[in-house]
Amino acid sequence: MSASAEIRLAVRGRIVSFDGGPGDAPTVHEQGVVLVDAEGLVAAVGDAAELLPTLPPGARVCDHHRHIVMPGFVDPHLHMPQTQVVGSFGTELMEWLAKYTFPEESRYGDPDVAEAAARFLVDELLRNGTTTAAVYCTSHPVSVDAFLAECERRSLRMLAGKVMMDRNAPPRLLDTPERGYEETTALIGRWHGRGRLEIAITPRFAPTSTDAQLTATGLLAAEHPGLAIQTHLSENHQEIAFVAELFPWAADYTSVYERFGLVRPRALFGHCIHLSEREREALGRAGASAIFCPTSNLFLGSGLFDLAATRAAGIRVGLATDIGGGTSYSMLRTAAEAYKVLALNGQRLTAFEAFHLMTAGNAEAMGMEARIGLLRPGMEADLVVLDTGATPAMRRRMERVETLAEELFALMTMGDDRAVVATYALGRRVHDRQGFVEHPLP
Ligand code: GUN
Ligand code: ZN
Repeated sequence: MSASAEIRLAVRGRIVSFDGGPGDAPTVHEQGVVLVDAEGLVAAVGDAAELLPTLPPGARVCDHHRHIVMPGFVDPHLHMPQTQVVGSFGTELMEWLAKYTFPEESRYGDPDVAEAAARFLVDELLRNGTTTAAVYCTSHPVSVDAFLAECERRSLRMLAGKVMMDRNAPPRLLDTPERGYEETTALIGRWHGRGRLEIAITPRFAPTSTDAQLTATGLLAAEHPGLAIQTHLSENHQEIAFVAELFPWAADYTSVYERFGLVRPRALFGHCIHLSEREREALGRAGASAIFCPTSNLFLGSGLFDLAATRAAGIRVGLATDIGGGTSYSMLRTAAEAYKVLALNGQRLTAFEAFHLMTAGNAEAMGMEARIGLLRPGMEADLVVLDTGATPAMRRRMERVETLAEELFALMTMGDDRAVVATYALGRRVHDRQGFVEHPLP
């Protein structure tokens, strides 16, 4: 492929893209380059020796030498208002929500609080190589405005939603079926499709919505058939028992969401740990996604996700941090814990599967596979640059790796934000370990 005159940037390094299915070997260019056009899209990917001579004069070359360049990480489940909840001691889900999370979220009606959290969160995601996330804000629309304004300033592809909840939480956090509907509709009008931003319809989870609110949520979903939906499902035994009490007509937890038209493609169900075969079959048939949040599931003692059964049912799977039930912003740390959770279930997560999940797999789970997650011409040039020898311990380990699979597995087992050399969004450097960052053009 020849480079056209509009090429603006060439990013050199070891180029790795998970173009096949989960577990397949990636496409690799050991001495490779990604060419980026003036729009921030990938124009070509290949060997540096072949592509660099085609660069037009004035194009910039960023040479990352032996570092790995891959698509930016995608995090399909986290909570913006929980950056100051991470690492709160001693509870399981329902008590953790009441004791730590709801009081904290009550502060987010204040735009100053929301703006400070949004700035911190976006910085932290980029420092960890995450360029796209599915984000729960709070029930206050101003929290969504604050987060998406911050993402717009950095030209990021992000998905966010106003949490809808009209019962079983403190009054300051509750909306009503009408308000949830109207505020979400207004946010869709204000933000959806602006730049690379999207709104997700976000009922928190069945226990915090009445039948009336879930009916209004189903109406929103029907009015906006292409929109993503995000909620929680089958995370904790006490939660599941509470759902059975609140919805006595429902055969199981999943059937609550089914009843209101919320199980469909681009519906992202956080956790999905304790599902029955019927529920898995229903999610798979509907084209929904199950989001595995290993650091959260271990921290809150929620249980062990069953990847093999989830995939066998044809459910799309994502891998997410779930900040702040989760304990790390790093998708590398998250993958390391995923490996351990699955090991406890007698399953093995390979490095290729894990990095596929962090990039192309998560993009697919979010229904964004046409734009992000792969390094291919026409895709958005969101990139992470990774140093597999970021620490003395990693450098020592890497002396003995012989294959890319071994190197990537040691990277995910030992790595964290220190391994992220740089992060690019639409071909602009938005994080650099050395401190050099390009700001958006006015
Ligand atoms: N279920 C409902 N809300 C939440 C939340 O904020 N975090 C987690 N982990 N589970 C939830
Ligand atoms: Zn969550």
